[in-house]
Amino acid sequence: MTADSAAPSGSRPPAGPRHVAIIMDGNGRWAKARGLPRAVGHREGVQALKRTIQAAPDLGIQCLTVFGFSTENWSRPPDEVSDLMGLVRTYVASDLARLEKAGVRLRVLGRREGLPADIAAIIERAEAQTAHNDRFLLQVAFNYGGRADLIDAARRHMQRMLAGETIEPIGEADITDGLATAGSPPLDLIIRTSGEQRLSNFLLWEAAYAELVFQDVLWPDYGPKALEEAVLIFRQRERRYGGRAVEPARVSA
Ligand code: IPE
Ligand code: IPE
Ligand code: MG
Repeated sequence: MTADSAAPSGSRPPAGPRHVAIIMDGNGRWAKARGLPRAVGHREGVQALKRTIQAAPDLGIQCLTVFGFSTENWSRPPDEVSDLMGLVRTYVASDLARLEKAGVRLRVLGRREGLPADIAAIIERAEAQTAHNDRFLLQVAFNYGGRADLIDAARRHMQRMLAGETIEPIGEADITDGLATAGSPPLDLIIRTSGEQRLSNFLLWEAAYAELVFQDVLWPDYGPKALEEAVLIFRQRERRYGGRAVEPARVSA
């Protein structure tokens, strides 16, 4: 019997991905297709998010980063912006206790300036309440833009220079450690729903060697099955990081 067949099924470490990011897109089109207001699409999107978060740990995922509101989404009509802000209240009120109990640490990525004061306070409370958890990291990008985050990281380094804390020119680690995602596992997979194939200013630096999977499903229809499908696609990819494919070991004569 080989060591392989002796291993109990499911005992192998999962083949990844550890860190998955999702651009949750298509709420508006989902609502439109049903003759419903866009707000209903966004509300259903929150249900899809809850399903997806619950399914992630069973697939071996340790960190999930989702795009909730971009720095460019402020350009939407004021009533839609206010609907989207309101979802933070609804989501935190309805899911925080469960997240806390499930060992999830919640971290919100993005600039706090510009957010309504009560939303900023809700975010801070939720982060503090789950800060001790380490079983799973949930990062919600809200008022987030990849470019803004890179600018903030560069500015932080510049401030350290001005304060005399360093004289080193900015390097790769200064950026990585200065981003909102600092400390999270390297990004393995970015999923975008709804059929659009672009990053829309999401995780620009972190995306460097992430695999991209585009799924045709609209976000409110997303859930465990779709996530598993994306993970299986990821597991078939060969990640080369600019190197060469791993060749099978030669058998010597
Ligand atoms: C994604 O759905 C949610 C946010 C951008 C906040 P959209 O609202 O972008 O839905 P579509 O792309 O118009 O269908
Ligand atoms: C990206 O979706 C932002 C979020 C999912 C929060 P958008 O719908 O705003 O992106 P574009 O405008 O189609 O690029
Ligand atoms: Mg969209």
